[in-house]
Amino acid sequence: MRRVTSRSIAAVGAVALLALGTACSNEREGSTGTAGTEAKGFAEGSLVGVALPSKTSENWVLAGDLFTDGLKSAGFKADVQYAGASTTVADQQSQISAMVTKGAKVIVVGATDASQLATQVAQAKQAGATVIAYDRLITHTRDVDYYIAFDNFKVGRLQGQALVDGMKARKPKGPWTIELFSGSPDDNNSKVFFDGAMSVLKPFVDKGDIVVGSGQKDIKQTAVQGWKAENAQQRMDSLLTSTYNGDRQLDGVLSPNDTLARAILTSVKGAGKPVPVVTGQDSEAESVKSIMAGVQYSTINKDTRKLVAETVNMIKALQKGDKPQINDTKSYDNGSKIVPAYLLPPVIVTKENAAESYANDPKLAPLTQ
Ligand code: BGC
Repeated sequence: MRRVTSRSIAAVGAVALLALGTACSNEREGSTGTAGTEAKGFAEGSLVGVALPSKTSENWVLAGDLFTDGLKSAGFKADVQYAGASTTVADQQSQISAMVTKGAKVIVVGATDASQLATQVAQAKQAGATVIAYDRLITHTRDVDYYIAFDNFKVGRLQGQALVDGMKARKPKGPWTIELFSGSPDDNNSKVFFDGAMSVLKPFVDKGDIVVGSGQKDIKQTAVQGWKAENAQQRMDSLLTSTYNGDRQLDGVLSPNDTLARAILTSVKGAGKPVPVVTGQDSEAESVKSIMAGVQYSTINKDTRKLVAETVNMIKALQKGDKPQINDTKSYDNGSKIVPAYLLPPVIVTKENAAESYANDPKLAPLTQ
């Protein structure tokens, strides 16, 4: 019966979906991917809160402006906040509570610390708001309705593959010596990126074709607290001293994003060592320049404009009482529930395909000419 209902929804489209919305509110198996909480709709022009982490990378800076503009042009009132640079968790907690008090109907959260927001999202749900985890999942709570992000595991896989490809291009035969870096442990994405990369790298490591020079392979050893450049640079400095002091060659470094990639490269250059293959993520302008100059090897294109636009689409659907589009109902178990997700495809970028990848990006395209 439920299955029949879900197929019917797929067939009859959005108008009928609106009418059937309540009847199907417990639907968990919809072929259109409509699992989630009940959607009743809310008044046009309502307040939408957006709580973003501190500006640890360009994507967050961009997202804030895009949300402010995108929500306004969709007819909502927008309250966009960033956590500060140091007291990030407390900042974000009080920002979300304030959004609830102000009556926000939807609260979009890019978590500073995935596991520290249960109280605030519970408040949001009690007040009748819908909670959307943006880019980073919120963990250990049932009070998160949707997750929207680029496919994080795939980001990691692409990074791992780029590292292998880059090293092979420079030195066709292994073994290759590498070091591994991962993101901040309080960000749920960090482990997903790392697992994705290791799904590619581990078979090489197991065969002895790739050697982690320092032996530091555990995510606890590779983590960069707070995604901070200075922490990555410090770790790279000490790895160079401890492991690459003599003639030993470092062929590649797995870096989870561009900010950290540039910090790693600064460290290597400071030590006067040859530049290894270094991966990245985010398509930051400085990294795109570095890739074009043949220094950083790769980045990932996760177009923030698309992610924000899709999030605004989700919010528009919720406002109308429709269920937002989702395309994944199994990957994101947050420890309390599987969060229905809408995942966008990330794209690997090297010098070879940079011009093509950024052709529609007015800021990045000129850097690839
Ligand atoms: C985002 C990355 C970003 C990192 C640091 C992650 O959660 O997915 O795009 O580089 O945070 O800000």
